[in-house]
Amino acid sequence: MSGTFRSVAPSDRVRVAHIGLGGQGNDHVKWFNALPDVDIVALCDLDKVRLEETHKRLISLNENASVETYTDFRRVLDRNDIDVITCATPDHWHALIAIMAFQSGKDVYGEKPLSYTLTEGQAMLKNLTRNNSIFQLGTQIHAGENYHRVTEIIQSGKLGKIHTVRLWKTGGPPELGFPPNENPPDTLDWDMWLGPAPYEEYTPVRCHFTYRYFLDYSGGVFADFWCHIADIMYMSIHPEGLNSIESRGDRPHDSISDAPLWIDVDFKFKDLDVYWTSVPPPVPGTDKMGIGAHFEGTNGSLTCDYNTCTIRIGNEVLNDLPEVPKSIVRSHGHQRNFIDSVKSRKQPESNLLYTREMTIPMHLAIISFRLKRKLKWDCQKEEFIGDDAANYLLSRAYRSPWSLPA
Ligand SMILES: NC(=O)c1ccc[n+]([C@@H]2O[C@H](COP(=O)([O-])OP(=O)(O)OC[C@H]3O[C@@H](n4cnc5c(N)ncnc54)[C@H](O)[C@@H]3O)[C@@H](O)[C@H]2O)c1
Repeated sequence: MSGTFRSVAPSDRVRVAHIGLGGQGNDHVKWFNALPDVDIVALCDLDKVRLEETHKRLISLNENASVETYTDFRRVLDRNDIDVITCATPDHWHALIAIMAFQSGKDVYGEKPLSYTLTEGQAMLKNLTRNNSIFQLGTQIHAGENYHRVTEIIQSGKLGKIHTVRLWKTGGPPELGFPPNENPPDTLDWDMWLGPAPYEEYTPVRCHFTYRYFLDYSGGVFADFWCHIADIMYMSIHPEGLNSIESRGDRPHDSISDAPLWIDVDFKFKDLDVYWTSVPPPVPGTDKMGIGAHFEGTNGSLTCDYNTCTIRIGNEVLNDLPEVPKSIVRSHGHQRNFIDSVKSRKQPESNLLYTREMTIPMHLAIISFRLKRKLKWDCQKEEFIGDDAANYLLSRAYRSPWSLPA
């Protein structure tokens, strides 16, 4: 396809570069390598050890792979023969790398959460539209059978009108202690790792994997899992009219990290109450579910996670309602769907418009957690009502030389 991909024939091969090669980036390599019409042509990580290891892993999967390796993602974006990038860097890089990729004429399969701030999500959408780009968020469960079936059951109306949704994820962050600062390894570009985030001295727990427990880069367990389970709520009832957000919680006590130790959030949408908790709701069977969604309707309830579904109507407890027809077209696979979209130029199932809306409550809940107060939201203007501090936290000034394109 190389450079002229906007007019690509569906039969053409798609040339992919993978940026960010930790646990999730290596899954990207494995998944895209398995697609018959994809050629992986570049790998990029600012950690040379991970870059080399992933290169070896790719060659062991595909001895014919012909890839260049990079430590600076901008050199990947400079290449006109690359059609698609995938991005599995830490969260504070997601938006900027995606926007720069759109501007360089590339489509993006980007990891969740969509963005670090709400303003970044707005800029992503503007740049996607302006450049006629394709974007899929890495919410892989969206493509699974269970979310399709739950959506059909909820939308069938058999449970009546859904008035309350309870979402939860158990478990908190590890206590990381207060380790001393160190010189970063010669093989790691720490300044690039920090990128647009505020400068901090290096210590290993701030970097690979455990970065997610620092509010400067992510939002802890809540931000890690919100989109996966909120996805089934957006897919099935697509709540609208968010107007207030109230978070309660605490920060870790014996840890350099500051993302929530636990967080509970009350969201009020038009005609819908949504509760996020760090423990399961008091519903039979949920004590064994680490993550889940519980829908309460006027005629019954439905409790689900990624793979299971329990329906309660009156005294009946069921796993399916066979009378509800299979009306929703099934996904051909999350990465397959994305590559097909790259070819057809039709947005994929976890597209940017949809996933940005789904991500907004996550951003707002973290702001309420930081400010320790209930916040009123104007969903048309996308701003808090009468709260300058909260509005300030909708964006973040980037550290030089990085800036967020409008
Ligand atoms: N969809 C899922 O189920 C799922 C599962 C796990 C992780 N994730 C997401 O994937 C992302 C990565 O998570 P992880 O656990 O693999 O983290 P990780 O810290 O193990 O890996 C991130 C990698 O990105 C590299 N990196 C950082 N900045 C970079 C840059 N500017 N250019 C190139 N490389 C850069 C790091 O050196 C590191 O190797 C996170 O956003 C996370 O939320 C998604």
